[in-house]
Amino acid sequence: MGDRSIAVIVGSIREGSFSRQLAHALLDRAPAGLSGKLVQIDDLPLYNPDLDDGTPPAAWTRFRNDVRPVDGLLFVTPEYNRSVPGVLKNAIDVGSRPYGKSIFSGKPGAIVSCSPGALSAFGANHHLRQSLVFLDVPVMQQPEAYIGNIDKLLGKDGGISDAGTDKFLANFMKKFAEWIERHS
Ligand code: FNR
Repeated sequence: MGDRSIAVIVGSIREGSFSRQLAHALLDRAPAGLSGKLVQIDDLPLYNPDLDDGTPPAAWTRFRNDVRPVDGLLFVTPEYNRSVPGVLKNAIDVGSRPYGKSIFSGKPGAIVSCSPGALSAFGANHHLRQSLVFLDVPVMQQPEAYIGNIDKLLGKDGGISDAGTDKFLANFMKKFAEWIERHS
């Protein structure tokens, strides 16, 4: 495998976000040759096509430039009201336009959803898949990743308190690296 980079897009902007901690834990478990970083989405103005007619907001341009060169997209998200948090949907809308210039098109992707609850943000995970199908992002089918009881799984310094989950996350990143190779 060659060196591959991913953009990690986290669907929570809360300071103590479990999703962000999980995103860092996933990056820590990436196999050799795969690296990435979290991209900022908390300052993106709400998508308005009118603003793409002139000079777009600087934060949109930065976000698009952050994502355009990467080899893969990792989404780590909680669920809001059985769907994708608005902040993540907005980032997807910003990245998808102007029409014909989507930064996502053709990039292999993977989704990890998490929740303190037992349903593990299944609704957000699958609503996100729906958008990514439209955006021509080949999303890894297996393994799926629905992480429930996330508040009880995160230890200090990126640790995962449950050995089974720790192993699952490492394997997920290995499979994602293979998925990126297959689609690059
Ligand atoms: C939630 N939460 C939530 N959880 C869930 O499993 N399904 C849901 O539909 C919702 N809906 C929801 C709506 C709103 C507006 C909020 C603020 C929260 C709870 C959510 O999973 C919890 O707050 C997580 O901690 C959010 O993820 P982060 O911020 O810790 O990454």
